[in-house]
Amino acid sequence: MAVERFFDERLIGADPALEAALQSSAAAGLPAINVTPAQGRFLHLLARIRGARRILEVGTLGGYSTIWLARALPTGGELISLELNPDYAALARANVGRAGLADRVDIRVGSAASSLAHLGQNDPRPFDLVFIDADKPSTPLYFEWALRLTRPGAVVVIDNVVRDGAVADPATAEAGAQAMRRFADSLAGEKRVSATALQTVGSKGYDGFILALVVA
Ligand code: SAH
Ligand code: DHB
Ligand code: MG
Repeated sequence: MAVERFFDERLIGADPALEAALQSSAAAGLPAINVTPAQGRFLHLLARIRGARRILEVGTLGGYSTIWLARALPTGGELISLELNPDYAALARANVGRAGLADRVDIRVGSAASSLAHLGQNDPRPFDLVFIDADKPSTPLYFEWALRLTRPGAVVVIDNVVRDGAVADPATAEAGAQAMRRFADSLAGEKRVSATALQTVGSKGYDGFILALVVA
């Protein structure tokens, strides 16, 4: 935690719009399961490195990661974020608006599975980056949609793949870790992506991302 603070103070600094997003989320009783500032900046940098013009996020919560990602977009770029809970989505819209990003963020309420099917039917324009961070047992399904809605060169990031190390425990009782075990199994021999796992520590505990580059 001291290390996290050390780097956050130097590399991230004060950020009123992001801090307001977290404060309003806490005040409204949302769970504090947003990415950390350093992880948010990581997502933001990935989007910029990719030159992303279209970003898809699965799991909005109060819009904290949404703001980090949307700030990477050029004028005319678009981020679509999918959220089941209409109250969370409303708060996220307010937070995104306060961050000055309402013109490029579209938050869609509903189960991500149905919103993704709707996107596949009605708007097959490919995304450059997909961030998957919703209900963990559906991660394999969301990943399949991510592949359908991208082209080679796109980046897919999946959050919460380590779950305090439970992912490596075949006997884990935690549904999220079981889901990530199945997901990792499905990536073995998956020819459409080149993927790695990044373990993270800090204020949100011991967790991690899978980072996948779509190659075919
Ligand atoms: N990406 C956010 C955190 C998301 S937390 C951030 O880092 O700031 C996970 C979110 O997924 C929650 O807001 C939860 O309501 C949402 N969610 C859970 N099940 C869902 C589903 N079936 N479809 C869409 N969203 C879902
Ligand atoms: C949980 C969900 C998340 O997206 C996260 O980053 C941490 C925890 C959860 O559902 O417990
Ligand atoms: Mg997460």
